[in-house]
Amino acid sequence: MRVPRRTLAALLVLAAAPAAVSCTAAHGDDARPGDEPPAALAPYERLLPAPVSARAQGPGYAFGPGTVIRTGLTQDEEVRRVGELLAEQLRGPSGLPLPVVGGADGDGIRLRLDEGAEGAGEEGYRLESGPGGVTLTARTPAGLFHAGQTLRQLLPVSGPGTVPGGTVTDAPRFAYRGAMVDVARHFFTVEQVKRYVDQLAQYKVNTLHLHLTDDQGWRIAIDSWPKLARTGGAGQVGGGPGGYWTKEQYRELVAYAGERYVDVVPEIDMPGHVNAAQSAYAELNCDGKAREPYTGIKVGFSSLCVGEERTYEFIDQVLGELAELTPGKYLHIGGDEANSTPAADYAAFMDRAQAVVAKHGKTVVAWHQLATARPAKGAVLQYWGHDRTPAAEKAAVAAAAKAGNPVILSPADRLYLDMKYEKATKPGLAWTGYVPVKRAYSWDPGSYLNGVPESAVLGVEAPLWTETIAARGDWELMAYPRVLGLAELGWSPAGALGWDGYRRRLAAQGPRLDAQDIAYYRAPDVPWS
Ligand code: ACM
Repeated sequence: MRVPRRTLAALLVLAAAPAAVSCTAAHGDDARPGDEPPAALAPYERLLPAPVSARAQGPGYAFGPGTVIRTGLTQDEEVRRVGELLAEQLRGPSGLPLPVVGGADGDGIRLRLDEGAEGAGEEGYRLESGPGGVTLTARTPAGLFHAGQTLRQLLPVSGPGTVPGGTVTDAPRFAYRGAMVDVARHFFTVEQVKRYVDQLAQYKVNTLHLHLTDDQGWRIAIDSWPKLARTGGAGQVGGGPGGYWTKEQYRELVAYAGERYVDVVPEIDMPGHVNAAQSAYAELNCDGKAREPYTGIKVGFSSLCVGEERTYEFIDQVLGELAELTPGKYLHIGGDEANSTPAADYAAFMDRAQAVVAKHGKTVVAWHQLATARPAKGAVLQYWGHDRTPAAEKAAVAAAAKAGNPVILSPADRLYLDMKYEKATKPGLAWTGYVPVKRAYSWDPGSYLNGVPESAVLGVEAPLWTETIAARGDWELMAYPRVLGLAELGWSPAGALGWDGYRRRLAAQGPRLDAQDIAYYRAPDVPWS
């Protein structure tokens, strides 16, 4: 039986939340009051996400007023842009001018595109630091960008400093390392989302999934259906004014993310979660009557009219405009909690919606309920179950994985950033139990779901649902520090994972988060300085 989980959520919150999820693993590695603080980590040990290999060796490179960033001989425009962005990121903390120049030889920070760089893959890199400078080598500009983010962590939080001598060789474990923001339940500006992109990209997160539509709001302008945004966007949970993004604003966000090697995956949730659209257009309802705007947090009550041809003109035009705006390969079509759509209708609808995505040249992503219907070849399933998800539902995902459908793992009782850490956490919900930082981190995506081997896992994603989150402070409190755990689970090799090392790497990030004015939760079992 499906439980409309947000209703359940509301009830659980009212009942002062269930017992905390117990993490019964050995607690010997947790900090406790009275413990000696662990010895400070050396710079190459503190990198987060942990790299494939890092070795300190010999004298380092001292940043100074003469330090330049060299973007190589190839005159590659994109490498130049990566160099400019790195300079911008380093100028603030270091207080140095850091001009960006061409050429490859001479002291300084050298960016080298080397298509033959071994083992680097699409995003990997090598960083070598010695007295004459720091060389960043990668096969792709994305790899150079990630190398630059590692370099940032090898420098002090403020002041010029020295990059210690040594070498990092690195490449990601998973191709997809994502974060989602629900801008439908509460509206957020493009500026706020850009801030998140900047924060995430420094930890090598490479995908931003935007939950653009839901019962409470439609947040993206669609020219062929203008009332979706204008009428359907004019509200949010609790009844505030809401809002929407123009196409220009959306394009600007996509470009901004792209320059930081973050792909945008837009989601139009269907056939459920559509009350905002149905309040804007009467014709989207089987009874031809527009719905009232909705400002609560229940789920599962709305459905597109599956038997009506106009519905498919609607999704074709909406997804067509969105495909045109979005350079990335994926369109997310939701498909979760369609509790008001009979199963046969759901499957028939999802068949057609998937065909529309393909027609517009994109690959489908959908919540894992698509596994209970007929996932198209190559469609990606986003698993959002949890420890108590029925075995049959997990088995459907495993069967789809076996048939070749890649899986993104977003276990709700690990990676949902809107789950409270503990009873005292003010924002957030608790329908999966509490999710402390250790629980969010301590699992292995490669062996998490029975029948879904690592080879079927495209990656991991941490969603931030915003029923209870309306302001930047609460957003960051819920995301940080758990989203750093997501970054490490997505990037670092399995052998580098482990709570004791991680909590110390995490603690070392505290001053960086402070310097960026990120309001994070100071988890009691992390040895923050
Ligand atoms: C979901 O949380 N309904 C994907």
